[in-house]
Amino acid sequence: MEICVIGAGYVGLVTAACLSKIGHTVSCVERDRARVKKLANGECPIYEPGLASIIKKSMLNGSLRFTYHMQDGVQNAKAIFVAVGTPSREDGSSDISQVLESAEQAANFANVGAVIITKSTVPVGTNRAVQRVVYSARPDGKLTVASNPEFLREGSAVKDFEEPDRIVIGFKKNSAGETLRKIYKPLTDKGFALVQTSCENAEMIKYASNAFLALKVTFANELSDLCEALGGDMKDVALGLGLDGRIGPKFLKAGPGYGGSCFPKDTRAMAHMGRKFGARQTLVETVIERNEARKLQIARRILAVLGSNAKGKSVCIWGIAFKEGTDDIRDAPAITIIKVLENMGVNVRAHDPEAMGQARHVLPKTQFFSSPEEAAEGTDLIAILTGWESYKRIDFDTVAANMKGDTLMDFRNILPKSSVKAAGLRIISIGSSADNTSHLVKTSGSIDFVQDSKPKGHSRAGC
Ligand code: UGA
Repeated sequence: MEICVIGAGYVGLVTAACLSKIGHTVSCVERDRARVKKLANGECPIYEPGLASIIKKSMLNGSLRFTYHMQDGVQNAKAIFVAVGTPSREDGSSDISQVLESAEQAANFANVGAVIITKSTVPVGTNRAVQRVVYSARPDGKLTVASNPEFLREGSAVKDFEEPDRIVIGFKKNSAGETLRKIYKPLTDKGFALVQTSCENAEMIKYASNAFLALKVTFANELSDLCEALGGDMKDVALGLGLDGRIGPKFLKAGPGYGGSCFPKDTRAMAHMGRKFGARQTLVETVIERNEARKLQIARRILAVLGSNAKGKSVCIWGIAFKEGTDDIRDAPAITIIKVLENMGVNVRAHDPEAMGQARHVLPKTQFFSSPEEAAEGTDLIAILTGWESYKRIDFDTVAANMKGDTLMDFRNILPKSSVKAAGLRIISIGSSADNTSHLVKTSGSIDFVQDSKPKGHSRAGC
């Protein structure tokens, strides 16, 4: 099918590339000319495993192209996906102006009977606003609207597209549903589940999914504190808990708090919808509040181990990205934690395999190093804040020999304790009573809260 995807941000690009791979002919419209130029030259502007090679292959076989002309992009399309940004406003609500503008512009040039599909994460009810805009732009166009939220994780977005847990499509007119069923037939033929519902339900499913996962992570974080306090080990508890099929093993890893461009934004938007429409989402509100507190709690733990004279001491941070497998630092716990430490007079030396380019813009005081071993030199303490696989292969003997202190705090529980201990380091992991540091936190003084900065230049439009 001839398809147009509006927006070559994270979601738009993955969607366009993967749709071309499953047999469609896709034109991707992007208003940023420099980005279109890059893509046309075969450069993939984002770091996402597998994406660059799909783009390359599809461009070569003619099933994918990029353009900055809306008319050029939409004129032959039967289906038009809108995958543009919906940034957070101050009050937590989502700004959907780009979605409405894109839908209106697309409607002006769309084929009679085309379907305009919202891929971006939008507040429940947005489809009705899109329908109004589309109809007033082209009253004679017989255009329909549909909703098709994305469930793409950064770092495994291609796999998530190709092997989805479910595909959700929301529509009112059967013809729109028929078009979406055809688009996803290559995946549904393989047995992947298709949920067909109203646009409102599809929009709600997206928020509910992210909010529920954020809640699960936050639950795991608090449970890990209880494990520390009562003599448990969160790893075993998560295993036993997750084997219950009703609960499931995923998203039960304790850590320094969730981050990224989606959970924080979508939970805020859901809480805002609840307040606005008189159906308070108090659980979600609490999750947001506890996640902010989590980042500060982790900073406090580091300060507590440094002791009463933390000022002037030096901490090494391994991992800045909000999770492994991405260079994205938006709402990354590491950013808040580093800023708190620096505000308390601690010198921070940091390493991240992918995110240092982005991080330099928002952490002007931090020193960055190209290897984790170098970052650790002369420091009093090391803290792991992102669970990069490569940190498991660090030469701990070298690290221990060149450090001033002897403590490694593994806030992602990725390191085998034995090899770290064998190098003569003291390892403090998370959620284990054996390494409990929470008693130290209770005695620490107050610390300054630092708002996360919103880095620019890394777009995950459509999220
Ligand atoms: C999330 C969802 O998982 C996707 O399904 C969704 O499509 C996407 O948001 C979106 O709305 O676009 P993503 O933001 O890439 O994907 O990140 P996740 O892998 O979900 O992780 C979110 C955060 O939770 C990270 O900071 C991660 O470190 C943290 N986390 C996750 C934990 O602390 N523990 C866990 O066990 C799992």
